[in-house]
Amino acid sequence: MKHWPADANILDPDIFPTEKGPPHALFDLWRRTDPVHWNPATPAYAPDMPNSAMTKGFWVLTRYQDVFDVSRDQEQFSSHAEGFVIWDLEEEELQRHRANFMGMTPADHAPVKRMLMPAFSPRSLKALAPDIERVARRIVDDVAGQDHCEFVFDVASRLPVYTFCELMGIPESMRERVVELGNAMADVETHGDHEVDPTLQLFALAEEVAQQKRRQPDDSLMSLMVHDQTLGLNPMNINMFFVVFAVAGHETTRSTAAHFIQLMNAYPEQYALLRSDVDKHLDNAIEEVLRFTSTTTNFRRTATCDTEIGGQAVKKGDKIYLSYAAANRDPAVFADPHVFDITRPNVRKHLAFGTGPHVCIGAGLARMQLQALLKQIVTRIPDLQVAGEPQWLRSIWFNAITRLPITFTPETA
Ligand code: HEM
Repeated sequence: MKHWPADANILDPDIFPTEKGPPHALFDLWRRTDPVHWNPATPAYAPDMPNSAMTKGFWVLTRYQDVFDVSRDQEQFSSHAEGFVIWDLEEEELQRHRANFMGMTPADHAPVKRMLMPAFSPRSLKALAPDIERVARRIVDDVAGQDHCEFVFDVASRLPVYTFCELMGIPESMRERVVELGNAMADVETHGDHEVDPTLQLFALAEEVAQQKRRQPDDSLMSLMVHDQTLGLNPMNINMFFVVFAVAGHETTRSTAAHFIQLMNAYPEQYALLRSDVDKHLDNAIEEVLRFTSTTTNFRRTATCDTEIGGQAVKKGDKIYLSYAAANRDPAVFADPHVFDITRPNVRKHLAFGTGPHVCIGAGLARMQLQALLKQIVTRIPDLQVAGEPQWLRSIWFNAITRLPITFTPETA
């Protein structure tokens, strides 16, 4: 870990690539000395981001309890007022974020969440499990006979895309486009490089799928949204749903799988322990990878009134950075937080999926996909080795690996 000065700017785009993830030494320093830390206004670094001239200062929360409490209190700390991403948005973009499930008012959010929940219930997940396992097997079939592959795109990215397409009822013919646009969207900091904004392209695709479901209803989420008049969802809401599921369900799950492989290589004794009894250790190992890496490192809230966080006065309108990455390494909750330990007893307390009304709705689904895929890998190509420098996404938001070459002994038929 590098020692960043206490006044380092957490939006400095070089921090994450230098650290290969969140800057834990800096978070530790702030948590010890200044746990609700003021990050001053800074010039925005991404020239294509809206309102790029300047981004307002904000409070960075590094203690587990503060992240937990603020996440659970939408009345005082809103995802809707100014959105849920740390950048300051121009009006048009802000309207889109507010139309998004993640940025709705509590009154609008609750009924939509009720409509979505059955699709993510344990019963629905159980019904989906054989399909997910079949696809996980097929993905590993496609690489296991070789002696190498690029793990992120050849393996990790394929299952979340399949699952998203199944949930949304996207026909085979459109799936390649979903993969391409999902990747472009996840690459938040550079998606300006694409000729046409990938968000707009995903909107167009969402519109196509919605029209198809209007003509031919089925039991997919897209069809439910289009046909359930009681929810009062407009086309913008529906498009934003599509986009949020495309990004939220894809990049995060694929990165967690990539982190898993990378960490098992970095900590061979933990990998040996996992392999000694995969059925016993795999679930907890996945939770430890989620805690240790916090793929989604932060979200934003805005104070709706003058209030306080962990003893620090906060003013109405103040912007707040919920650092899941820092919360997940808080020694007040996790003993020896920087130690990677797949047997950690209280690991399920981690906040990698957030908490409160906006807690990740796809957490169960993500876990199921990771279990299915990683079990195939660990049991069929167990001697895999990272065979080149992993590439980290240049991002202040996602802790994501974008390239992970691996080698292994080919599976014999
Ligand atoms: C390892 C995988 C994943 C991670 C780390 C992750 C992380 C998160 C986090 C931290 C939040 C909280 C947002 C907030 O409080 O503002 C969230 C919300 C959300 N996630 Fe996930 N997620 C993952 C997988 C998925 C999957 C597989 C799906 C869907 C198929 C999904 C869909 C969503 C949605 C729709 C929300 C918004 C919930 C709401 O606003 O009520 N996520 N996710």
